[in-house]
Amino acid sequence: MPSGETDHQAISRRAAAISESATLALDRRVKELRAAGSDVISFAAGEPDFATPLVVVEAAARACRDPRWHHYTPAAGLPELRQAVASHTGRRDGLELVPEQVLITNGTKQAVAHAFTLLLDPGDEVLVPSPYWVSFPEAIALAGGRAVPVPTSEATGFRVTPEDLDRHLTPRTKALLFVSPSNPTGSVYRREQMLAVGRWAVDHGLWVVCDEIYDHFTYDGAEFNSLPAVVPELQSRALLLNGVAKAYSMTGWRVGWLVGPRATVEAAANLQSHVCGNISNISQVAALAALEEGASAAAEMRTAFARRRSAMLEYMDRVPGFECPAPEGAFYLFPSVRGALGRMIGGQIVETSAQLAAVLLEQARIAVVPGEAFNAPGYVRFSYALADQDLAEGMARLLRLLG
Ligand SMILES: Cc1ncc(COP(=O)(O)O)c(C=O)c1O
Repeated sequence: MPSGETDHQAISRRAAAISESATLALDRRVKELRAAGSDVISFAAGEPDFATPLVVVEAAARACRDPRWHHYTPAAGLPELRQAVASHTGRRDGLELVPEQVLITNGTKQAVAHAFTLLLDPGDEVLVPSPYWVSFPEAIALAGGRAVPVPTSEATGFRVTPEDLDRHLTPRTKALLFVSPSNPTGSVYRREQMLAVGRWAVDHGLWVVCDEIYDHFTYDGAEFNSLPAVVPELQSRALLLNGVAKAYSMTGWRVGWLVGPRATVEAAANLQSHVCGNISNISQVAALAALEEGASAAAEMRTAFARRRSAMLEYMDRVPGFECPAPEGAFYLFPSVRGALGRMIGGQIVETSAQLAAVLLEQARIAVVPGEAFNAPGYVRFSYALADQDLAEGMARLLRLLG
């Protein structure tokens, strides 16, 4: 605190309790090292490395020149984009959705924040299967709720069961967070597992908040399913969160959406109208082009991810002390590194996955996210969203240090 500042000038307890995103902090450190001339290879990024498809960029460039897009538009989103999201999601799930069930948001992150603000009163609890993505507990806390981690393990492929959920249910439980494919584990639920979890949520009168941002990324014959499509009784109590960031390599464009019951989406639109108004029109036009014309580019990127995943799994097999089951989705591997701990690495004894990640960065110039960031010490997250040659060089460095 700068000297002379008195208590009444301090920021709120709620804001002060929010910590920096561990993944963004790591990203900052990688950029610092690179700026200082170090050729760091990053397995830490949660974003595709491809340029945004040209059809999308060209639609945005045309929109920039059209004065129609230079002014405020409806806070809930451009009607044509809301329609496109309704059709796209409805087609995917075999459901009839209308544009009034769609709110366009500033990336999926804002849809996450809105979902919890919409659902939670002070002290309400959300069941959060763990390991979990860093922003979920913070978004829940900011909305006045309490994140209740539900531990999962490799034995169930990091998937929760009704029995796991039962152990954490209280009279304050309001919602279940459901993320499949998952960040950080890459796990994908089977349809019958979703039936069990979805019916459990129905039986307990809970909302489900489904983060579906990795819906395009499944491998080895695994299939994406949306929870309310598998358990239709959930349709009046489900919020689906998604966006263009991962599937179309558009992380910087900031377009996501929230799909849910009409009345809830209307409330969300009111909320958004006071928080930020409409999302950039140029980005919304770009997102529309992605949904209407980006399918083949998205499929090509997915093929590249499948190839990199296979290469990474082969490398992982050769790293002493790493155990890496093959995740069926997203673009992450989440090996247990416990077998590599308690050893001398790079001149020091490494006891934790956080220390291991630090040694890898400082001594092998490769960046990975330690499991501690996801409530899972003993694991490390490797993203394979990087160029094939970087991936090969990064894994060679890892093997040199640990091999
Ligand atoms: C599970 C999950 N949800 C949401 C997001 C954020 O997506 P967006 O860039 O659309 O805000 C991410 C990004 O890493 C994520 O992993």
